[in-house]
Amino acid sequence: MRQELADWTAQNKAAFRRRLLGWYSRHRRDLPWRKTRDPYAIWVSEVMLQQTQVATAVAYFQRFLQRFPDPTALAAAPLEEVLRYWEGLGYYRRAAQLWEASRKIVGQHGGRIPDRFEELIVLPGVGRYTAGAILSLAFDKPAPILEANTERLYLRLLGWQVPAGTVKQHLWEFAESLLPRRNIGQFHQAVMELGSLVCRKKPECSLCPVRTMCRAFALGLTNSIPRRTNPPQYVAITDVAVALLPPEDERLLLGRYAGGERWAGLWDFPRLAWCQEHQQPAPSAEQVCQRLSQRIGLRIVNGVHVTSVRHSVTRYRILLHFYVARTATAPRSLAPWQGTDQVRWVEQTEWERLPMPAWSRRLCRALERHRAG
Ligand code: ADE
Repeated sequence: MRQELADWTAQNKAAFRRRLLGWYSRHRRDLPWRKTRDPYAIWVSEVMLQQTQVATAVAYFQRFLQRFPDPTALAAAPLEEVLRYWEGLGYYRRAAQLWEASRKIVGQHGGRIPDRFEELIVLPGVGRYTAGAILSLAFDKPAPILEANTERLYLRLLGWQVPAGTVKQHLWEFAESLLPRRNIGQFHQAVMELGSLVCRKKPECSLCPVRTMCRAFALGLTNSIPRRTNPPQYVAITDVAVALLPPEDERLLLGRYAGGERWAGLWDFPRLAWCQEHQQPAPSAEQVCQRLSQRIGLRIVNGVHVTSVRHSVTRYRILLHFYVARTATAPRSLAPWQGTDQVRWVEQTEWERLPMPAWSRRLCRALERHRAG
């Protein structure tokens, strides 16, 4: 391992940077976060890109920045609104941490993003990668980065046929050793672009400007690096959710997931885990109403199946059956059910403003169609 690192002489590194930057100047995508040196905009983009494809991130990035143009605007907004702008990106904790961090930046740094590693790394949600990205991309400081694209690229350049997790420290060292003296931000955009466009999971080596420097290419190992870990074991489960309305009006019962839950801060229909397989056809509305009655302590009647959707969460493949039903009596205040910290009867004009998991938003649309037709 030491040998492969040693093979990268200063001269090789200089040649690598030259070819990479030449390629980048011809093939770079015109992305909105590449037109700015604003550390806040770069930070938002990098948090989004940690979990989302570039093509999806662009629209979210533009909307987010328009509404929350700087840390002060973000810190002043209610978390609920921030989550609504994040809706569909997933990993909502990242949005909550971005918001918490913006409040610290306003409180402790006068609204300006710090340009020192020690001050960045202590902010909520900021790890070594994000700190390095902000420092290099916005401030041109010599801080290395390592994310999915660069990790894959470096493992192949070095020809290391091992899981990335086992050589993280060496990869960070390599990343640091490659840094140019100037234009560090541009260099980082270029390595990420090469990883994202050429050195992909299925690499396009014929398009690669540095393939002659790549040990995996020389050894015919590009397809077996990075070493694949065991594929996740998928688990099928069936859940049910119910849009619950009172007998006489059109409000909906929603609960807000509590802190510590995956969707903390998001609102959702009452939902029950139904069984540990994909149950088709959907359970009868009577069965569902009865189980939900027991769960929330209200008598529920007139259930109708609306639709069924599939979605995935980590290794779970979820089949979700969705119903609409009414309570037998007038709405009253309810104790939060398990996993929530607040429950409310919500007007439909209001649920448009509340953040929800993306699949629940799909259920809202299905409910509107169901009730219109
Ligand atoms: N992935 C993470 N950050 C990126 C960036 N700035 N450009 C392309 N892909 C990325």
